[in-house]
Amino acid sequence: MESINIALDGPAAAGKSTIARRVASKLSMIYVDTGAMYRAITYKYLQQQRPEDFQKLVNDTTLELKYDDTKGQRIILDNQDVTDYLRENDVTQNVSYVASKEPVRTFAVEKQKDLAAKKGIVMDGRDIGTVVLPDAELKVYMIASVEERAERRQKENEERGIPSTLEQLKQEIADRDHYDMNREISPLRKADDAITLDTTSKTIEEVTTEIMAMVDNLRK
Ligand code: C5P
Repeated sequence: MESINIALDGPAAAGKSTIARRVASKLSMIYVDTGAMYRAITYKYLQQQRPEDFQKLVNDTTLELKYDDTKGQRIILDNQDVTDYLRENDVTQNVSYVASKEPVRTFAVEKQKDLAAKKGIVMDGRDIGTVVLPDAELKVYMIASVEERAERRQKENEERGIPSTLEQLKQEIADRDHYDMNREISPLRKADDAITLDTTSKTIEEVTTEIMAMVDNLRK
């Protein structure tokens, strides 16, 4: 589907990236993980010992997305592939703070709009339906209970060899949602024209099928 964009928003660990990747693959569209962009800037912020001048930080930054046939989207920060570091705990714990800063958002949103200009993009994040792609043909707002999101994230972490406990993950997810929903610029919220999809107790296959049905509906 070259002629549409799909915006997928929702709280942390609601399954957005897994579903977005699947839907994109089924429709031969390109998946863009915007959280990874904010994570990459956070990685640099941490490497540079937490500078508070965010305008300077982004002015000195190059960020590119590359697509690898086997590994999927790769994030190239200042000519270095940093994708494998972006899920580490220190990045996750600081990303909402860095993503709340105006220069950081302006920098990332501009790139995201450029990527989607020619359509054919499935983009996930927090402000895609509201700010980045307000004209997206399909907008989905994915939610799930905190318990289930923590369990899913723990499985993912186990597979990646990242240590975590369920209690710690529940707290981190709830804190991150609170921060993302209450920040001043582009807070996480459902776009008025987005369809809410509760994925609690649903399989990846079921959720993918529901979104594919929404895409079919666009054609009717
Ligand atoms: O999706 P992911 O969990 O990787 O996102 C990491 C963080 O990046 C979010 O908690 C949020 O603070 C920020 N983010 C954002 N806007 C987006 C995508 C992510 O503010 N479009």
